Amino acid sequence: MSKARKFVIASLFKGEPKVDDFSIEKEELPSLKNGQILCQAEYISVDPYQRVYTHKVGATMIGPQVARIVESRSPEYPVGRHVVASLGWRDQTVISVVPTDGDTLPPVLVPDYGDLPLSLALGVLGMPGATAYFGLLDICHPKPGEVVVVSGAAGAVGSIVGQIARIKGCKVIGIAGSDLKVKWLKEELGFDHAFNYKTVNVEKALKEAAPNGVDVYFDNVGGEQSSAVVANMRHRGRISVCGCISTYNATKVAMAPVVQMHMVRKELKMEGFMVTRWVDQWDKAFKEMAQWIKEGKLKYRETVTEGFENTPDAFIGMLRGENLGKAVVKV
Ligand SMILES: NC(=O)c1ccc[n+]([C@@H]2O[C@H](COP(=O)([O-])OP(=O)(O)OC[C@H]3O[C@@H](n4cnc5c(N)ncnc54)[C@H](OP(=O)(O)O)[C@@H]3O)[C@@H](O)[C@H]2O)c1
Repeated sequence: MSKARKFVIASLFKGEPKVDDFSIEKEELPSLKNGQILCQAEYISVDPYQRVYTHKVGATMIGPQVARIVESRSPEYPVGRHVVASLGWRDQTVISVVPTDGDTLPPVLVPDYGDLPLSLALGVLGMPGATAYFGLLDICHPKPGEVVVVSGAAGAVGSIVGQIARIKGCKVIGIAGSDLKVKWLKEELGFDHAFNYKTVNVEKALKEAAPNGVDVYFDNVGGEQSSAVVANMRHRGRISVCGCISTYNATKVAMAPVVQMHMVRKELKMEGFMVTRWVDQWDKAFKEMAQWIKEGKLKYRETVTEGFENTPDAFIGMLRGENLGKAVVKV
């Protein structure tokens, strides 16, 4: 028997989460039964949805991690291999490789991507990468020469969306929350235009960058920014609604200009999605994106916070926009 640590909700979030809203608890780990493995967390993912789906005091914080198998009673999951699994903010966990609880997905062995870091299984070669790939390609079908706008452009999902659109021959405009992010998008990721929504008028900046309008909008943020993009769409434009992070910490119902008249007159199509829709195809996307990374066509960046005990800081920092690319914790 050994003791593991986990973060639980000490008080429900009001507005922006605070470090005191979390507490560390210790838990006894049981001895392994047949079909079980002991996982030692190496990287924990902090993601926006963890802000939205956390409603109960005492609940363990949710989220995926990359973990090393340190003990195994399953031949398919040998000691030393790594898995991606939704184990929450825990440093050690005993799990069944075939979960008995129908709500839990089985752990997935991390494929061998050669020199690429394991943590990418939480970012570009994980759920956020799949979100960018399918949310852009399957919903918006971007064509060469079209104008693609992405909000939350310097984050885990947005930075990959913009680069995939470039790979597909589109003109790409990114909207992000700092001058440093704008510089990174333009100078390193090859975005055609980018601007800081905190310092410019989004509608005016869009009119300058895309005088003939926008064909595709990948929406990570919702709210006023998104209404401004929708108002600048071209006839038969497509909008992929991925998230609305501008509202996750809001304490009042957010208001934004009405978009329906633009949608009617320009015959726009808007579709929301959950990335789990394509879970049986994620592998295909990861293989293609790993190849793009090796060919230098797709770049990734991680903002790494060191230390399990600093996971709440990493989470709060990500919600504040302190991350470039994917925010992860190195346990
Ligand atoms: N539909 C799905 O299946 C699915 C799956 C994964 C993610 N998502 C959604 O995709 C979006 C991006 O997720 P991610 O993992 O890539 O996170 P991320 O972009 O890496 O991190 C969150 C970013 O949100 C931005 N932000 C915070 N407050 C904001 C505000 N008030 N207005 C505008 N931007 C704000 C910050 O960047 P700035 O500095 O630019 O403000 C911050 O860096 C989220 O909405 C998330 O919920 C959806």
